[in-house]
Amino acid sequence: MSYPLIRPRRMRRDEFSRRLMRENVLTTNDLIYPVFVHEEKGRAPVPSMPGVERLSIDELLRVAEQALELGVPVLDLFGVPDPAAKTADGRIAWDPDGIVPRAIRALKSRFPELGVMSDQALDPYTTHGQDGLIDESGYILNDETIEALVRQSLVHAEAGVDILSPSDMMDGRIGAIREALENAGFINTRIMSYAAKYASAFYGPFRSAVGSAGNLGKGNKFTYQMDPANSDEALREVELDIAEGADMVMVKPGLPYLDVIRRVKDAFGVPTFAYQVSGEYAMLKAAAANGWLDEKACAMEAMLAFKRAGADGVLTYYALDVARWLRED
Ligand code: PBG
Repeated sequence: MSYPLIRPRRMRRDEFSRRLMRENVLTTNDLIYPVFVHEEKGRAPVPSMPGVERLSIDELLRVAEQALELGVPVLDLFGVPDPAAKTADGRIAWDPDGIVPRAIRALKSRFPELGVMSDQALDPYTTHGQDGLIDESGYILNDETIEALVRQSLVHAEAGVDILSPSDMMDGRIGAIREALENAGFINTRIMSYAAKYASAFYGPFRSAVGSAGNLGKGNKFTYQMDPANSDEALREVELDIAEGADMVMVKPGLPYLDVIRRVKDAFGVPTFAYQVSGEYAMLKAAAANGWLDEKACAMEAMLAFKRAGADGVLTYYALDVARWLRED
């Protein structure tokens, strides 16, 4: 009896050798925590995202303190405006006294060492729930939208944001924003582009959280976000954003698109991030609430899967939980 001579199980037999051959590790340095900031007082739960709440600026400061204490390096801000203030052109998106610029100023003055990131797109601010400006037929106008995104970006940069993250998928917006930043002297404002962002059904709970779901109605984003069938196209999008001046790129959603993360990382070797989106979070929460999955084990496995696929970091609604779980172990 000569087989098996090679026994991969040998290395898995004990904890010490499992540890020795472990290829990827997750630390709190890998986490970005997305948060929703609203105009109301206090906190309001997001029903389809248990554990996620819309926060007033006062409450946001409490959460920021926790994030810092847990070692989470960056908070990513999404604005939830007063519904009555929405317009077809979404102009409150570039109001210097809008919810996001106020939140940026509050965070940076209280916690200068905390990384602050913000989202650029018009969907929370428009009456139609699209990320850009539309023509009479409802088509999203590219170049006109870029002008609006540049305004929104400059307002966030002036408020002191560290990282801009345009999530709209207009062509050429990274170049236009980068040029405007340079011209205005914001040479150190980083850009993480939503470079490969798919037209995904997994964004549903997020649209409820920012209050754009009702505005968008039966509308979709197929004319600007990418077709889930494609991955060569993702490389083209990433290539353009890097050439236009992105410092970091993102693939979104996360777990269903690990192949895209791997291709992007292998092709470009730039800082690459995965966004574990609202629907991915909601699935885990729902299964855990039913006792069907072990929440911590599954969430941590998903984080490691992002690292294994080549992601340098993950945007996740689990960020504070993950930081706590890492501390426990
Ligand atoms: C808006 C935006 C979306 C997300 C981030 N920025 C939704 C969308 O494109 O419709 C999704 C985040 C999530 O689902 O967690 N431009």
